[in-house]
Amino acid sequence: MVFFALPGEYASGVVPYLSAENVLAAVSPERAVEAVRDGFIAYARGEWAMPPKVYVAAYPNGDFRAMPAIGAGHAVLKWVTSFPVNLEKGLPTVKAIVLVSDAETGMPVAVLEGSALTALRTGAAAVLAAETLGRADADSVAVIGAGVNGKATARTFLARGRKPLLWDVDPERAKAAADELGAEVAASSEEALAADIVATVTPGRQILFPENSLRPGQHVSLMGADGPGKCEIDPRELARTHVFCDDWTQASHAGELQHPVREQLLEQAQVTQLGDVLAGLAPGRAGAEEITTFDSTGLAIQDLALALAVLERLGELKDVLELPL
Ligand SMILES: NC(=O)c1ccc[n+]([C@@H]2O[C@H](COP(=O)([O-])OP(=O)(O)OC[C@H]3O[C@@H](n4cnc5c(N)ncnc54)[C@H](O)[C@@H]3O)[C@@H](O)[C@H]2O)c1
Repeated sequence: MVFFALPGEYASGVVPYLSAENVLAAVSPERAVEAVRDGFIAYARGEWAMPPKVYVAAYPNGDFRAMPAIGAGHAVLKWVTSFPVNLEKGLPTVKAIVLVSDAETGMPVAVLEGSALTALRTGAAAVLAAETLGRADADSVAVIGAGVNGKATARTFLARGRKPLLWDVDPERAKAAADELGAEVAASSEEALAADIVATVTPGRQILFPENSLRPGQHVSLMGADGPGKCEIDPRELARTHVFCDDWTQASHAGELQHPVREQLLEQAQVTQLGDVLAGLAPGRAGAEEITTFDSTGLAIQDLALALAVLERLGELKDVLELPL
């Protein structure tokens, strides 16, 4: 895996600040899928390390997360929010800043706007899991929740040649997102939830898949339940599927898995980490009839992979601010 060498023009004492525009100009959704795949594999092989994310509760409004990781000669820290109530205030649910440092000297290397980066890597993980675990002949795709990260997921499916149906409790949001992306709105929630591949990107306050709702051969990338108490699927329904997750420690504490694990419906031996499948260390889908699910809580190694992919293009980016540190 080759990452990047920093261009020499950023002398010590000055670090670049990469805005959301810089991040989006540097990394396409397709490149994001590649980078996130490399990150999952490096983590599975033990080349990259990541302490579990720290949650700082600010309930009932939301929470802050501190997400560190180290790999490929760099360390990152993402300071990120999940404030679902912000939607009503016209503010983003997820807002983030990423700090990148040199892992040899400890010196700061860059500061990145983290919300665009988060959306890119979240869409990438949802699609990567669907491509890895979904049936080879999967046809229909749907994204539930047409907010910032749902839209990024839909955009990534489109970049990979699949046209998703969108569904949102707010029909205007679904329509606006579909118009923006060149996708379509599903005729009903039932149609969207029955697609061969479904990605759920909602605030995780409502169960989308009750018991016995999934049909043989479906794959669901469960992206929304990334904090204590959240869920998008009934724990018994999840336990009925072949379960994959991004990281057992995180997912069993703060993802969908927190519920079936607490209720003793699932244990670690029944759950496979996606990176292990990508690295060839564990099997994926066992057959066309199996239902597969991917519990994503969002990993700091995904942020590291994306930050490195942005910095790879640093020399080509326009209007990069310099911060005197
Ligand atoms: N797994 C990860 O890596 C990851 C990364 C980023 C965000 N998230 C989580 O994903 C969720 C969405 O984040 P966002 O930034 O897109 O939020 P957002 O507020 O921008 O969008 C959420 C959307 O979901 C819709 N919605 C709410 N309830 C719904 C339901 N029952 N059915 C269909 N649609 C519904 C809302 O109308 C809204 O359009 C949050 O819970 C966030 O914490 C996870």
